[in-house]
Amino acid sequence: MEFRHVSVLLNECIEGLNIKEDGVYVDGTLGGGGHSFEIARRLGKGGRLIGIDQDTDAINAARERLSEFGDKITFVHDNFENVKEIFKNLGLEKADGFLIDIGVSSFQLDEAERGFSYMQDAPLDMRMNSESELSAYDVVNSYSEEALDNVIFKYGEERWAKRIAQFIVKERENKPIETTFELVDIIKKAIPKGARKDGPHPAKRTFQAIRIEVNRELEILEKTIDDMTDLLNTEGRLCVITFHSLEDRIVKNAFRKQENPCTCPPEFPVCVCGKKPKGRIITRKPVLPSSEELKENHRSRSAKLRIFERR
Ligand SMILES: C[S@@+](CC[C@H](N)C(=O)[O-])C[C@H]1O[C@@H](n2cnc3c(N)ncnc32)[C@H](O)[C@@H]1O
Repeated sequence: MEFRHVSVLLNECIEGLNIKEDGVYVDGTLGGGGHSFEIARRLGKGGRLIGIDQDTDAINAARERLSEFGDKITFVHDNFENVKEIFKNLGLEKADGFLIDIGVSSFQLDEAERGFSYMQDAPLDMRMNSESELSAYDVVNSYSEEALDNVIFKYGEERWAKRIAQFIVKERENKPIETTFELVDIIKKAIPKGARKDGPHPAKRTFQAIRIEVNRELEILEKTIDDMTDLLNTEGRLCVITFHSLEDRIVKNAFRKQENPCTCPPEFPVCVCGKKPKGRIITRKPVLPSSEELKENHRSRSAKLRIFERR
């Protein structure tokens, strides 16, 4: 299957990274290699790009798409949360820019058997890394009712979370819930008809929540932002693209903490905690897709880009 994914906020990211010909850059979410292609083609002698993805299919597709750049690009199959270890293994100390473009690729959504989509019938899976242990099947069939309610409410911001959790637990008393369509049916039964009339697909929020839980998407974000800023050279930049408010809030707060880490009470005349700013926020407000991009790529509608610069 062809790797189909239209990169989001592409020009804005490339501009934001301020690419130096001989710099070291890291694309933490290689996907189809769209952003990486634009980074790599701006690199000259001494320039290097590290492309990370936890999905082997993405690594293989990007390797093919980016083959013309030869050994300028190093491909790493790993989770970007391990960036410090990845640097150690590659003998690298610092980088001039990092990019993370979070979430699933269109390719992952289209590949029915990965179980990400509520529009296609497939076994419940949703693992971005098919070697990791926890799958959507495990979450749906082994989490307690309370834990399911928590996940669906917190990560899906789903007001019917409690009922959906109740219905899942009741249904699995008969037999395990094995497929995406079985789960969609349960969600439809749990949400009252009137509340399903308008708005997005009734399973959208629950599927998002389970995907976030399976891939620990929010849990690793703040720590990774800390680690990546630690690894930046002076004037190096970190660009983060998010697709929903929960992620964006984490990025916004993490950047604020990096810019102003002081924990002294406001009435203290001087700082005594000793925590120094790591740099400055470049984007006071997130960068949003242009109207042209919104017209061409529906998936970009919820994208937000925030940029931090190391001092
Ligand atoms: C939205 S796509 C990236 C698309 C890419 N920027 C492009 O232009 O083609 C997200 C990719 O990041 C990967 N990914 C998401 N979270 C990750 C993580 N924590 N570590 C490594 N890869 C991750 C997914 O497997 C997916 O391939």
